[in-house]
Amino acid sequence: MKFNTSVTFIFGLAATLLVTSSANAVSDKQRAEIEARIVKTGVVCLDTDSDCGSVAAADAVSVARSGEDVYKAACLACHLTGAGNAPIVGNVEAWSDRIAKGTDVLYDSGINGIPGTGMMARGACMDCSDEEITAAVDYMIANSQ
Ligand code: HEC
Repeated sequence: MKFNTSVTFIFGLAATLLVTSSANAVSDKQRAEIEARIVKTGVVCLDTDSDCGSVAAADAVSVARSGEDVYKAACLACHLTGAGNAPIVGNVEAWSDRIAKGTDVLYDSGINGIPGTGMMARGACMDCSDEEITAAVDYMIANSQ
């Protein structure tokens, strides 16, 4: 909480300085836009107490995200829509042959990807731990059978 607040403060300060140094050249509207942009970049979520509006909050303190959270953050883009022929979560038919391969195979696909397909290692979630990827795979399986 403290860190989050002070980072916001620092960026807020930077915004103020920026705005003050060119006070005459910036309209209120532009100022609001600049502040909005800076604040967005400046809010760094490193704790679990505050609501940062995203699952990223839990990561920095090494609290594993739930499979559902990881799925929503890193997998859903393809596995909800079927982009690149990704098997759609909830489509029992699309998953039955895959599930038949066994969870270890699916975990391996999640962690290491499937070469030559859109399924990249970790679904390209580089800050996802093995544990978080396997939890996401479990979530996908549980919702596709
Ligand atoms: C950029 C698109 C994309 C993203 C993001 C993505 N996947 Fe995939 N995934 C695919 C595609 C495409 C396939 C099908 C590959 C094939 O078998 O041809 C696939 C297949 C899979 C399979 C089945 C593997 C098998 O052996 O049959 C699992 C499990 C899986 N993805 C897990 C995940 C997880 C977990 C995430 C998020 C951490 C994720 N995917 C994110 C595209 C994606």
